[in-house]
Amino acid sequence: MSQDHMVPLIQQKANENGGQLVSEKKYTFPLGGNNNNINESRILEVTIKEKCDTDYSMITWPAAPVLSKFMIKHRSQFAGKRILELGSGTGLCGIVGALLGAKLIVTDSHLARQKSSLLDVNILQNNLIIGTDDSIEDIDPKVIHIFPLTWGRFTGVFFKIPLIDAIIASDCFYDPNDFEDILMTLAYFMTRNPETVCYTTYQVRNSSWNIECVMKRWNLHCECVHVDYEDDDGDYDQSQGQRSRSTILIYKITREPRT
Ligand SMILES: C[S@@+](CC[C@H](N)C(=O)[O-])C[C@H]1O[C@@H](n2cnc3c(N)ncnc32)[C@H](O)[C@@H]1O
Repeated sequence: MSQDHMVPLIQQKANENGGQLVSEKKYTFPLGGNNNNINESRILEVTIKEKCDTDYSMITWPAAPVLSKFMIKHRSQFAGKRILELGSGTGLCGIVGALLGAKLIVTDSHLARQKSSLLDVNILQNNLIIGTDDSIEDIDPKVIHIFPLTWGRFTGVFFKIPLIDAIIASDCFYDPNDFEDILMTLAYFMTRNPETVCYTTYQVRNSSWNIECVMKRWNLHCECVHVDYEDDDGDYDQSQGQRSRSTILIYKITREPRT
């Protein structure tokens, strides 16, 4: 099957759990046909629980399967690499990365980590293991490390994280008030290892926002490497009689060499 047809299949079921509606989505990503290893399974399945809550970290946003598909398509760039995920939410992208053989450190804000253990539940239900602080240097891709990391708040966590090869961040650029804090965070990790690249999915919500122009201040460079159009779950436009679609861009962010 051509990789251009990598449409994730989502099955969803919902039930009541402790007063909060908990739903479970099953993402089935075709692995494409360009790999000669006949032992490799042709699909990658990830099951993700979500909660009905006002907190943005409790659902999987349309940008997350887009970044997951991108990682699958370019999996040779991720396998065996140490990857840091910012604003993990329910954890889809980090879990996909680990299942592709990358060594994942997944993070979300202190607030999100205090509120819910959904991320932990999702890691465990996909047969991965949660690492402990002393095993941070582990090279086993089945072990995912979780830390609270709030963008721009330089707590001890920043210094615990070893050198990383890549950063992934799905739908983290949605509030312009946070743009400086995220870029400052990227700049920190990219200064420690100038080879670090960041892949971020950006859902176009307001045409007057532009993350490219704020990069310069942090000596960062970004280029759009992919454009996708995803159905906006549940956002049915009755006047048009059709589902609305979101434009989702994938940016590759790198550190510009100092002149
Ligand atoms: C729109 S959600 C995206 C979640 C997930 N990456 C996805 O695509 O499904 C934004 C994520 O950023 C996290 N976040 C928001 N503000 C943050 C901050 N200041 N520092 C760290 N994470 C933050 C939220 O907790 C949430 O997980």
